[in-house]
Amino acid sequence: MHITVIGTGYVGLVAGAGLADFGMHVICIDKDESKIEALEQGEIPFYEPGLKELVERNVKNGRLTFGTELAPAVKQSLVIFIAVGTPSDGQGGVDLTFVKAVAEELAETVDEYKVVVTKSTVPVGTNRWIQEIINKNTPAEINVDVVSNPEFLREGAAVEDFMRPNRVVLGSESQQALAIVKDIYRPLYLIETPFVVTGLETAEMIKYASNAFLATKISFINEIANLCEAVGADVHQVAKAMGLDRRIGPKFLHPGPGFGGSCFPKDTEALARLGRDYDSPMQIVETVISVNEAQKMRMVDKIESLAGDLKSKRIAILGLSFKPNTSDVRESPAITIVGELLARGAHVAAYDPAAEDEFKRIFSTEQIDYRPNAYEAAEGSDAVVVVTEWNEFRNLDLGRIKQSVKQPVLIDLRNIYDPRRMKELGFDYTSVGRPLSALKQC
Ligand SMILES: NC(=O)c1ccc[n+]([C@@H]2O[C@H](COP(=O)([O-])OP(=O)(O)OC[C@H]3O[C@@H](n4cnc5c(N)ncnc54)[C@H](O)[C@@H]3O)[C@@H](O)[C@H]2O)c1
Repeated sequence: MHITVIGTGYVGLVAGAGLADFGMHVICIDKDESKIEALEQGEIPFYEPGLKELVERNVKNGRLTFGTELAPAVKQSLVIFIAVGTPSDGQGGVDLTFVKAVAEELAETVDEYKVVVTKSTVPVGTNRWIQEIINKNTPAEINVDVVSNPEFLREGAAVEDFMRPNRVVLGSESQQALAIVKDIYRPLYLIETPFVVTGLETAEMIKYASNAFLATKISFINEIANLCEAVGADVHQVAKAMGLDRRIGPKFLHPGPGFGGSCFPKDTEALARLGRDYDSPMQIVETVISVNEAQKMRMVDKIESLAGDLKSKRIAILGLSFKPNTSDVRESPAITIVGELLARGAHVAAYDPAAEDEFKRIFSTEQIDYRPNAYEAAEGSDAVVVVTEWNEFRNLDLGRIKQSVKQPVLIDLRNIYDPRRMKELGFDYTSVGRPLSALKQC
């Protein structure tokens, strides 16, 4: 079967390469010519473990190609996946400009039966709207079906998540379209992946409800962590014991500087907005968003309380991406933290194993002293702050760091070090939700 994937970003490229690996012939389209040129040269435009090998293998076997022209790709394809970005519109809603442009271009192009599958995260009602745009602009005898197929992959583990998802959600009103898409995902049936087949609106809502719930767990444990600091309790033990209750589960109960990334912030905002639009308030989600904003700012206060007045202080930031194993900095807590440090007069040195180039689009080399490794970032600093828990930070030579800093202050926003050991090493150390008084008790 021939498939077109429109939008060759994190989701589109992983999905395109993954579907090629399932045996489909896939053309990945993007309007960004430089991205397509890079892919044609065998370069992956962002960092994602395992993706280069997956792409290479499928390009080599001839099942994966790239292009910038939508029309010829669509002509040869029975199924078209939409994987373009759906960023925030800046007012709590979703900017559907890219989706609309694709739907309009499809309407001009299709000349026979097609199945249009939306992988982009889109507000409830969007798939029906896509169908209307296409129907309105195509001759009546041409039938196009839409399927909502939200994507749940995690950056940093995207290939594994696509190839072995927890579930596949398919929403449609067309049995024919569902049968075609199920056929594409046949390899997943063989590994007994659960399929949830439902209506358009329900499929769209599943994606938002899932992301909002995960974000809720994070904001919840962050608030518990803050309270742990106040009352002298250890949030890790609290989270561990909570997670042992099977009704709660252990995942997403790790405290930190707040959630970021290209999904949780905009998807929680969009769900809250949907609730307001339909006069069905999403009060929990609204609170999750404000707790998250406060958490990021709280981290700067934490830094200041240990490093002292930030004016002219040199602060070393380790980790800029919103989580490890990705170069993605969209809505990364590091953006808020660095911005606030600069606003309070600090000098910032920073190191990230993969996200430096992306971060430079937000903070230039005039604003931040980008360093080639953690040791050079830490040199001469008044405080070292771990913002993203890349594995390489877990095994730093802390003795070497201590020798080179101006004052031995370490603020661990991901709780990757043992507070007792840090004390033994002579660091003035703090983390999130683990006051020393709580650790002394055990
Ligand atoms: N990134 C994730 O972890 C993740 C996970 C699940 C779902 N999603 C959702 O998937 C969608 C895509 O996210 P992403 O992170 O891959 O975005 P992205 O910004 O990395 O990629 C989107 C791509 O679409 C391209 N594009 C835009 N308009 C186009 C057009 N008219 N024709 C061709 N290409 C076009 C852009 O050039 C870009 O390369 C979003 O709706 C997002 O919410 C993302």
